[in-house]
Amino acid sequence: MEITEISFVRGFIRMCNDGWEQGWHERNGGNLSYRLKPEEVEEIRPFLNTNGEWKEIGTDVPKLSGEYFMVTGSGKYFRNVILDPADSTCILEIDETGSKYRICWGLVHGGRPTSELPSHLMNHEVKKDISKGKHRVIYHAHPANVIALTFVLPLTDEVFTRELWEMATECPIVFPSGIGVVGWMVPGGREIAVATSELMKQYDVAIWAHHGMFCSGEDFDLTFGLMHTVEKAAEILVKVYSMTNAKRQTITPQDFRDVARDFHVTVPEKFLYEKSSPERP
Ligand code: 13P
Ligand code: ZN
Repeated sequence: MEITEISFVRGFIRMCNDGWEQGWHERNGGNLSYRLKPEEVEEIRPFLNTNGEWKEIGTDVPKLSGEYFMVTGSGKYFRNVILDPADSTCILEIDETGSKYRICWGLVHGGRPTSELPSHLMNHEVKKDISKGKHRVIYHAHPANVIALTFVLPLTDEVFTRELWEMATECPIVFPSGIGVVGWMVPGGREIAVATSELMKQYDVAIWAHHGMFCSGEDFDLTFGLMHTVEKAAEILVKVYSMTNAKRQTITPQDFRDVARDFHVTVPEKFLYEKSSPERP
């Protein structure tokens, strides 16, 4: 049996390729991580090397001690994952303190896990807790329309959530808790990881101004679908504001309440504020 025949490995590779085909991963842009289930750790155990050197994560994630993750490599290209996953991805283990990791498989030609490992792991730690272990996927991509909007709209959770919800009736059903926004920050470190994981306590989506987006979900389909839905809404919004500065008609706060009632989701009232004008915020 090849490691690439294992279901979660195939799902990981497919998601990387799907993201590449969407145009969200120029060069080495974006990164993906998946928290393995205990039975999946057993399934891949024959492939694991447990003599790797322990390295600092750069932050502490004590609630992830002993967990295993499949992660893309730093500087690696999503377009290459499907061709040679052992070169561009790795499986790593977290030590018992939650401050170190070691590579157990992959990155066979050297390298290290994504530079956004602190953000991925801090998001995983928050989501593992809040979702009672259900969320396993953290996905970072560079989708152009969401990024474009961060130059035009006020960088608030309320405006981004409401404007994107209005772009497709499915949006408040797909991301009912809304979207968090992080103002511009230096990527790759603990500071942006803390800011993002703070937002992940409330939301499954966090936008990094002038950079990209993070999504969290239970599995590859849901997490990819979430990224896709938000970016599609952003594309529609870019088209709308390219045609006009003011919407003629839109989905109203009461419409959102009605959708929420029929689809059994809760939409926070803070996103259903009255607008003073139909013009772009
Ligand atoms: P990595 O190549 O280190 O994953 O970085 C890509 C990226 O998108 C940084 O935010
Ligand atoms: Zn990035």
